[in-house]
This record gives sequence, structure tokens and C-alpha cells, in this order.
Amino acid sequence: MTAQLIDGNALAKSMREGAIARGEKLRAQGVQPHLAIVLVGEDPASQVYVKHKVADSEQTGLRATLERYPADMSEAELLLRIHALNVDNGIHGILVQLPLPSHMDSQKVIEAISPAKDVDGFHVSSAGALMVGRPGFWPCTPHGCLKMLDSIGYDLRGKHAVVIGRSNIVGKPMAMMLLGRDATVTICHSRTADLKALTLQADVVVAAVGKRNVLTADMVKPGAVVIDVGMNRNDEGKLCGDVDFDGVKQVAGWITPVPGGVGPMTRAMLLVNTLEAAERATR
Ligand code: GUN
Repeated sequence: MTAQLIDGNALAKSMREGAIARGEKLRAQGVQPHLAIVLVGEDPASQVYVKHKVADSEQTGLRATLERYPADMSEAELLLRIHALNVDNGIHGILVQLPLPSHMDSQKVIEAISPAKDVDGFHVSSAGALMVGRPGFWPCTPHGCLKMLDSIGYDLRGKHAVVIGRSNIVGKPMAMMLLGRDATVTICHSRTADLKALTLQADVVVAAVGKRNVLTADMVKPGAVVIDVGMNRNDEGKLCGDVDFDGVKQVAGWITPVPGGVGPMTRAMLLVNTLEAAERATR
């Protein structure tokens, strides 16, 4: 058996097209959706990520403003800056790129963002809203994964979904979204006693650990859907996920590639959240 690919590039492209149309509608109402991106320090990966976020926004007709600050900026100064963005009616979304320099308390900084502008969905209020099924922003990566499942018409009701990884950004919110769709959800992590015994029972596996070959062919039930959130480098320096793609694709029914899978969806969902924030601001 060879799994069918879930093409993140194609799906993200159609999401961006939808975003362009929503942006045009807002502009016709006199609202220019505007995302503020705050980058503190010189982390090379962060610089690449924010460059992509600005480019994606601009290509979609959203305005993006990148604010860059030196690594020695104080936490108090950053909190003041976030407050100014919170009260600026022309700004609809605020994203503080992580990681922050080690002298800052990242969670405290995230909590300073107004939940109405928390397009990353990292605020406790956003996490709580997801947990209790109230409106709020959902973190972009797991939301993108859910859209990928929707794109193949997958009905999660009563299915067993295994999430590998328990981060606040991916694993935990992913589990909540799957639960919200009536899946039976198991969250696995580094202390899970027998990962293979659990993944072999899974109809859906989401691998979000950040380590190569966490999921291999012998761990997958034939026909299962495998979503790979990982972004790693192999020995040749090539981008790869958490899943042994070549092995697992022989067993799975559906699989997401890396690159070209979850990554582009994460980027697209940020645009969707920013538009949502701008639309809510007009209501
Ligand atoms: N650093 C790596 N990924 C992300 C993300 O999705 N949002 C923010 N704010 N920082 C990140």
C-alpha cells in the first residue's frame, strides 16, 4: 500500500485565496487588516520565520509591520510596547516571535497581548476558550493540521487519534481540537511507556515532537492518517519531519510530507487568524 499525500502547499494556496477575498471585503468596508510582528534579538531562525510572515501577509493584501528590538531590550519596555499595540485600533493582530531572550518571561509577555489580538492563540485566555469550546483564536499549527484532515473529508467521530507531543503550542491544543470533533484522544510524550502499542491502535497519528523517526512503519496501523508536524534536518542536512516518511507511506492511508505539509498550513492559518481578528473588530 502507498499512502495518498495530503498536499499542504496546495491547501495553503487555497486558504490564501480565501484570505485575499476576505481582505478585499474588509477593505471595501474601510478596514485594512494589520498584523504587528515583534522580534526581539537576532535569532537566525526567527529572522527567517518573521520574513516569511511579513511576505505572506503582504502577498495576501494584509498589512504587516515588523518591529525589531535589540536582544538587551528590557521586559518592561517590551510590555509597554505591547500595551501600545493593544490600544492601537489600527492593529488587529499582534505576534511576538518566540523564543524571546532568556532574561524575559515569555508567558508573561504573551499574557500581555490582548486576547482579541492574540493571533498566535498562545494566551491562556485563548487556550481556555479552546478547552471549553468558546470562540477564541486557535494556535496556527494544530488548526492547520485539522484543516488538512478536513481537506480529505475525514470524519473524526469515534476515531482514535494519537498525538505524540504535549507542547502548549501543538500537542495540547491539537488534542483539544480532535476531542472537539468527537475523536477519542491519547496524548503521548517522552515518558509514555509503550508508544508503539498506542500508535498501532490509532486511526490518526499527529507527530509533534521535533525528533526524527519518532514514528516508523512498524508503529502504524494500515490505512491510518499520519500528520507530521516535525521540522528537523537529516544527516545530509535535508529538511525532514518526525515521521520516517519512506517507511510509513507504505503502511498509512494518508500522509503529510515534509517539506510541503504542515509548514505552509501554519503560515496560512496566521493569515486566517489575522483576518478573523480584523473582522471581529468591525462587529
Ligand atoms: N516561534 C516558532 N514558531 C512560532 C510561532 O508560531 N509563533 C511565534 N510567536 N513564535 C514562534
